Amino acid sequence: KAADFKPGIVKIIAEQNVRVVCGDQGVAAMSLVCTHLGCVVDGTETGFKCPCHGSVFDDKGNVVGGPAPRGLMWLSVSQAADGSLVVDKGNEVPEGQFFKLA
Ligand code: FES
Repeated sequence: KAADFKPGIVKIIAEQNVRVVCGDQGVAAMSLVCTHLGCVVDGTETGFKCPCHGSVFDDKGNVVGGPAPRGLMWLSVSQAADGSLVVDKGNEVPEGQFFKLA
């Protein structure tokens, strides 16, 4: 529910391997699937680390080390008619793109 997402909230939706972040600018979602061979990354103090081959990402998903060829994917967020937020894992958006809540 959109009402659950106040600025400052970070939610990991583990069953979908997605992290949702809520800031003053709205809501953004990022995939937690490593862009190397598809393992799920773990959170670290500074971002994320892949347990499979050691790729390291910063808190925005940019690659800072390891074999990953590119950063973690930012995903489209929209709002359904019932007010629920919807993350479309098949629709990548540019890094830093937030969905503005109505
Ligand atoms: Fe993540 Fe290989 S799958 S580093």
